[in-house]
Formats: sequence, structure tokens, C-alpha cells
Amino acid sequence: MQRKKIRFGIIGLGLMGKEFASAVARWCHLIDDKLPIPIITGVCDTSNEASRTWFINNFDSIKVSCSDYLELLASDEIDAVYCAVPHHLHEQIYIDILRSGKHLLGEKPFGIDLAANIKIQEEIEKHPELLVRCSSEFPYFPGAKRVTDWIKSGKYGQLIEVRSGFHHASDMDLNKPINWKRMIAINGEYGCMGDLGLHAQHIPFRMGWKPKWVFADLQKIAETRPDGKGNSVPCLTWDNAVLTTRCDDPNTGKDFTLVFETKRMAPGQTNTWFIEVYGTMGSVKFSTHDPKAFYFLETTGKEQGWTRIDIGPQSFIPTITGGIFEFGFSDSFQQMIGAFVQDLSNNIISDSFRNVTPEETLLSHRLMTAALESHKTGRRISL
Ligand SMILES: NC(=O)c1ccc[n+]([C@@H]2O[C@H](COP(=O)([O-])OP(=O)(O)OC[C@H]3O[C@@H](n4cnc5c(N)ncnc54)[C@H](O)[C@@H]3O)[C@@H](O)[C@H]2O)c1
Repeated sequence: MQRKKIRFGIIGLGLMGKEFASAVARWCHLIDDKLPIPIITGVCDTSNEASRTWFINNFDSIKVSCSDYLELLASDEIDAVYCAVPHHLHEQIYIDILRSGKHLLGEKPFGIDLAANIKIQEEIEKHPELLVRCSSEFPYFPGAKRVTDWIKSGKYGQLIEVRSGFHHASDMDLNKPINWKRMIAINGEYGCMGDLGLHAQHIPFRMGWKPKWVFADLQKIAETRPDGKGNSVPCLTWDNAVLTTRCDDPNTGKDFTLVFETKRMAPGQTNTWFIEVYGTMGSVKFSTHDPKAFYFLETTGKEQGWTRIDIGPQSFIPTITGGIFEFGFSDSFQQMIGAFVQDLSNNIISDSFRNVTPEETLLSHRLMTAALESHKTGRRISL
């Protein structure tokens, strides 16, 4: 059977644009003879000439290479767009992608703020024929899959607390020059929440855990940073955020505490995504810090002990990788694109995990906007 091909354009050829391309380049890694094959046919970046050359040298499928994304959108050689540009550009570019009739896998936070997200939602409503999803790859780690499978089994009894977070430490280096991710005008008021929040929220939101209120504790730790030209400039974005929320668990009807942590200054952590679920009958935890380890605990009496098992590399879409090998970030990113093309071809297998939906990005924005207000007023804010 001839497998369907989906022609992708990439707008924004920086860190994530290249990650997307690399995942596509080794599509043979995935074993699913119904899975459509992504083909990169267009690339666009305003200023990154070296990156465009990298793409052209590595992908002979490229038909359009340009610096103006409207030129890419005008091409009939492209069915879907992966867009990875700074946050202040999401609103306009995502809207233009939808108006051009192309499917969209956008990057988080899906608009620089709530107003921008609402504008994108309004455009999405006008195009029910288009698939629109937001990037978030960590649920595709095999350990995270174990967590979601376990949550769905209800083995926790009644939820006590869930902690979900994302920690970085590269900003611990106070000599690290400032970049757009530390500038409010480009990254947004949310700071670390906008950058890291959806990663922490994807699984909890998908489990139906919607915050009823939030109490936020935000920190600005690095007050200045070098500008790379010998000067020191103010660094105004939030470095760390801890959001304590309360949610109802649709499975039991009982409420519980859900804590989201997004930190850029977390000593010793490099891109650590984690989730911990604590219940009356059982608990589990997984962290990309120790990517093979899945921990679980059954509450059978007075004493409890964690069991650690080393898990293999199998995620949602089967792969060629041997059962004893390790899974990594690039694998999770490839699985995420796999979920997007499955969705696009209406070939969702019962066991798969969908990408973040537009509605989930709206909930994320409502949460982060309420968090800003909570921190400012010192009060908990209803959502
Ligand atoms: N999913 C993840 O794990 C993950 C990780 C990092 C960043 N991100 C997100 O990806 C997006 C991009 O981040 P990045 O780290 O790749 O940034 P980056 O700075 O490495 O790359 C952004 C690219 O966009 C280009 N660009 C800027 N304006 C443009 C325009 N008008 N048209 C076309 N290209 C333009 C820049 O020249 C640059 O090459 C952000 O939304 C960010 O939050 C996601």
C-alpha cells in the first residue's frame, strides 16, 4: 500500500526548526505501515541564512526556500506548517498560516499572551477543516506513557497531590548573555511560565484536571545579564514559578492539589521534565533526569516503599530500537510529529496520545494570566 505523504513547510529555522527536520529525516525509525510520511518541501527564516543552507544541503525535497513566510504560504507544494518562531510573532504568523489553508503544528505558548491566543482561537474556528495542534513532546517518553497508562487505570485510589514541572539550570550562569527568551517584549510577561508551562500542563490537562483556582509564587532572580556587547542590561522576565492549584478529578469526583513548577534557575537540572502522582492507594513518578526509571508504590499498610523499574524505549508508535536501548529528547519529538500526522490522516490508534489542542492552549493562557494576577495581588485567583 502506498503510504500517504504530507508536505511540510517550516517557518523559523532555529533550534526547533532543525529538530523537526532531523526527526523527519529518520522517519524509517517508526514502524507503522499506515503512518503518513512527512516530506519537507519549504523552509523560511528571516535572518538565518546559514540555517537555510543547512536545510538545502540536507533535504533535496525542498521546493521553496525564502525569507518571507507569506511566500512559503503561497506555495501549493505545502500541506502543513511547523512554525517555531519567537512568541511575539505567533499571533500574526499562525493566523496567516490558517488563512493560507494549511494545517498547523505551532509552538508554545501559542500566542505571547491571552489576547493573542484568543485571536488565534477565533481564526481556528473559521477553519474547521484544518488540523491545529501545539508542540509538547515529553508525554511521548516511555516513562511518561507509563504514568498516563497508570493514571487511566485509576490505581491511585483518591488523588492527594500531583506535581508536574520543568526545570532548567543554564540560567544559573549569570554570565550567560541575554537572548529573546529573557525579554518581555519578545518572550512575554509570563516569562518562564510561557516558555515551559505547556510542557508541564499537557498531561494534567489531558487527564481532565482543570485548575479551579491558582496561587502563584513567581521569582525574578537574575536582575541583569550581559548583552553580548560588553554591557550589562536588565533581565526582567520571571525566572521561576510555582503555581499551586486545586482541581476536581473527574474519575473520583474528589478534589486534589496540583502543583506546576517551571524554573529556569533550578540548580543541577538540564531540561528536566517530571511528573509525580500521589494517591491514597498508589503513587508513581517519572523524570527525564533518569529517563529509564519508572517508580511506583502501592499503599498496602503502614509501611510503603518505592519500586524502581528500568523501562525500554517503546513509546506510542513502535520503533526499530531494541527493547533494551534508551529513549531521548529527539525520539520524543519524532513521536510527537507522528501523533500529528496520525491525527491528520484520521488514523488515531486507540493507544496514542494526541498533541496539545487549541482548547488546551487557551486553558494554559487562562492559568498563566491568573498566575500573574495572583502573584501581583498575593491572592488566589479563580479560573
Ligand atoms: N518544544 C520544545 O521543546 C521547545 C524548545 C525550545 C523552544 N520552543 C519554542 O519554539 C519556538 C522557537 O524557539 P527556538 O528555540 O527554536 O528559537 P530560535 O531563536 O532558535 O529560532 C527562532 C528562529 O525564528 C526565526 N524568525 C524570526 N522571525 C521570523 C519570521 N518573521 N519569519 C521566519 N523566521 C523568523 C529566527 O531568525 C530564528 O532562526 C518558540 O515558540 C519556543 O517557545 C519549543
